Amino acid sequence: MYNLLKGKKGIIFGALDANSIAWKVAERAHEEGATFVLTNAPVAMRLGTISELAEKTGSQVVPADATSMMDLENLIDKSMEILGGKIDFVLHSIGMSVNVRRGNHYTNQDYNFTKTGFDVSALSFHRVMSMLYKKDAMNEWGSVVALSYMAAQRVFPDYNDMADNKAYLESIARSFGYFFGRDKNVRVNTISQSPTPTTAGSGVKGFDGFIAYAEKMSPLGNATALECADYTISLFSDLTKKVTLQNLFHDGGFSNMGVSTAIMSDFMEREFPEEEKGE
Ligand SMILES: NC(=O)c1ccc[n+]([C@@H]2O[C@H](COP(=O)([O-])OP(=O)(O)OC[C@H]3O[C@@H](n4cnc5c(N)ncnc54)[C@H](O)[C@@H]3O)[C@@H](O)[C@H]2O)c1
Repeated sequence: MYNLLKGKKGIIFGALDANSIAWKVAERAHEEGATFVLTNAPVAMRLGTISELAEKTGSQVVPADATSMMDLENLIDKSMEILGGKIDFVLHSIGMSVNVRRGNHYTNQDYNFTKTGFDVSALSFHRVMSMLYKKDAMNEWGSVVALSYMAAQRVFPDYNDMADNKAYLESIARSFGYFFGRDKNVRVNTISQSPTPTTAGSGVKGFDGFIAYAEKMSPLGNATALECADYTISLFSDLTKKVTLQNLFHDGGFSNMGVSTAIMSDFMEREFPEEEKGE
């Protein structure tokens, strides 16, 4: 490893189990010499296995519901106490749609569920940054990263109201990133990651077919959770100090594709079987 985060202090949201993208980021950040606090919603602590990760990375866990300003204030105060100073990096790796969970179609949402999903998946990013900003908790040249998905720009019908949440999340990165950059030299970016087999990812209808499709469409294939962690580490490191207000695609090239030869030949085989055989 490269000691890219030697001496840096962070807060990592969203490690639920060993498949979580945040889990891999925590493992990689530890390998690169960082110390950090792990956090998740109190209910996720009971369901997941975060204490295993804490032990492995020598970290402490501070529970916080990312929709509660009180929890976030306590998290940031405690983190600075535990880590002995201001924060260098923050990962927001949080997403949840109640409409997706309950199987409500996009055209027929329960708007109370929509509001909850929006609060958890998008507004929480504003809340986290707002608390860090008010408390002046970030070191200069610190880095804040949230995870997004390409449904923020393009239509993926089964991604449901999460598409709208991701669009809002990416907009917050730009709008808050301006003030964080101007006033505190802190950078803010989102990473738009390939479909990844995690608890949140697998909750999307038709996920298996979709991940296989993306794999065939992308010249480099889908990016794994571990590869996403590597990219995130680079954004936390001092090697990317002037990258800010960006939505960065980490998807094996999927976002710039129209169609691939692999997808085309599957389509031709199904639609024009005779022609494919050369008859
Ligand atoms: N898996 C994919 O295909 C994929 C693709 C692109 C982007 N993403 C994004 O990556 C991020 C991480 O998801 P993941 O795929 O690792 O799945 P995951 O299920 O492992 O992580 C989601 C996390 O959000 C946490 N969370 C939910 N409600 C919360 C709350 N109120 N307060 C604090 N935390 C809360 C969960 O406990 C969980 O740890 C999400 O933003 C997701 O949208 C995932």
